Amino acid sequence: MLVVFIGPPGSGKGTQASQLCQHLSITHLSTGEMFRAAIQEGTELGVQAQQYMDRGELVPDQLVVSMVADALRSSPYNNGCLLDGFPRSLPQAEALDQMLEEEGKQIDLALELNVDEEVLIDRLLARKRPDDTIDTIHHRLQVYREQTSPLLDYYRDRGQLRTVNGKGTVDEVHQQILQQVAEKIP
Ligand code: AP5
Repeated sequence: MLVVFIGPPGSGKGTQASQLCQHLSITHLSTGEMFRAAIQEGTELGVQAQQYMDRGELVPDQLVVSMVADALRSSPYNNGCLLDGFPRSLPQAEALDQMLEEEGKQIDLALELNVDEEVLIDRLLARKRPDDTIDTIHHRLQVYREQTSPLLDYYRDRGQLRTVNGKGTVDEVHQQILQQVAEKIP
C-alpha cells in the first residue's frame, strides 16, 4: 500500500501520518523529518537543506528526489509506505511515479488534509519550531499554494485523490482518514 499525504504546513500531516502508519503497520517516511535529522547530524545534505528550510522554501527537487529514492530502496516497507510531505511539486510527483513504475507499483491513495489558513497559523505559532516564525509561515503557505497545490489536480486527474477536513480534533480527523482509506483501499 502506498499513500501520499498532501497538505499545507500545520495541516496535521505528521500527526495523522504517525497514527495511520501505526494503525496499518506501514512505514512512515517524512521528508521534513529526514532533513531535520540530517541537520542534526551535520551532514552535507543537512547543511544544504537548512538554508532552504530556514527561509520556508522548498529544498531543490533533485536533492529531495534522490533522498527519497534512497529511502524507498532501503526501507523495510513490505506492508506499505506513507509519504508525508513528498511529493511537493509536479517534478517530484512525476519522479515518484517513474520510480514506482520501474518497480511495477503505483500510488494507491493521495490524501489531502484541508485546513483554513487562520487555523494553520495558530497551530504553527503555538508549536514554535525554528521555521514557525510568522514571516516564514506566510512564505511556506505561499509556496504551498504556488508549488504544491497543483498536485491536487495531478492526483485528481488520476482518480487517486481523496480530501478530508483537517479542522476537527486529532481523533476526528483520524477517523475520517480511516474511512477514506477503507473506501479507496478495501
Ligand atoms: P515539513 O516538516 O514537512 O513541514 P510542513 O509541511 O511545513 O508541515 P509541518 O510539519 O509544519 O506541519 P504538518 O502538516 O506535518 O502538521 P503537524 O502534524 O506537525 O517540512 C519542513 C521543510 O522541509 C519545508 O518547509 C521544506 O523546506 C523542506 N521539505 C520537506 N519536504 C520537502 C519536499 N518534498 N520538497 C522540498 N522541500 C521539502 O501539526 C502541526 C501542529 O498542529 C502540531 O503542533 C500538532 O500538534 C498540531 N495539530 C495537528 N493536528 C491537529 C488538530 N487536529 N487539532 C489541533 N492541533 C493539531
